[in-house]
Amino acid sequence: MPEPEAPARYDATARALHWSVALLVLLQFPLAVYMDRFVEAFSQEQFRLYSLHKTIGVAILLLVVVRLGWRLVSPPPPLPASMPAWERRAAHTGHAALYLLLLAQPVVGLLHGFASGFPTVLLFGVTVPSLLATDKALTDLFGTAHFYLGWTFLAVVALHVAAALRHRFLLKDEILSRMLPGAR
Ligand code: HEM
Ligand code: HEM
Repeated sequence: MPEPEAPARYDATARALHWSVALLVLLQFPLAVYMDRFVEAFSQEQFRLYSLHKTIGVAILLLVVVRLGWRLVSPPPPLPASMPAWERRAAHTGHAALYLLLLAQPVVGLLHGFASGFPTVLLFGVTVPSLLATDKALTDLFGTAHFYLGWTFLAVVALHVAAALRHRFLLKDEILSRMLPGAR
């Protein structure tokens, strides 16, 4: 009898990218709320925290571009054949929505900064050159979009985590361990 085939997993690179992006995204929310609402406006402290938020946002953008490139080189493991069609569709739609938000949220954040006329200063003294002329209406538009996209993003992440935990604790299948670190 041949050994039963081990369920396929995400490779180490995909897992490392998933968990670094997840960690950085989860840091962004408390940081954004703190810098925006609990620190004196226009203080040195606020400027420093904005730079941190922007730097993490740009890092997320770069890591997600690398992740999408790596996904072409090393496609995700196929979902188990036993998974119902609606669940496959839900998983694919959910992941597509996450990728869309992972790209859109930092891009809109950058555009907000560009249109505001304030320099986009990251940590380590890096300044991102502005690609837009100063425009109050656009600043408000991108600012509002960044706010609503941001909170939509958190809701989609909550659904994603709930789905992963459902697989682990209710269905007791292999889905979560496909993404967990370490050898199986
Ligand atoms: C995935 C990456 C990002 C996430 C999840 C995120 C999330 C958020 C959220 C939720 C807020 C609203 C905070 C509140 O309600 O008080 C916010 C505000 C802000 N974000 Fe981001 N952000 C990201 C990337 C970026 C980037 C790349 C930039 C700029 C380069 C940026 C610039 C800002 C600024 C300037 C604010 C304050 C807006 C204001 O004062 O009206 N963000 N961010
Ligand atoms: C901000 C946080 C997170 C983001 C942005 C995120 C994003 C993503 C994305 C885009 C994928 C699709 C990967 C691909 O096929 O290319 C994925 C897969 C996955 N994520 Fe997350 N994730 C986050 C947090 C979490 C957490 C906390 C868990 C566990 C509790 C988790 C568990 C998983 C699992 C198990 C998969 C693989 C699903 C499958 O096998 O099809 N994720 N995640």
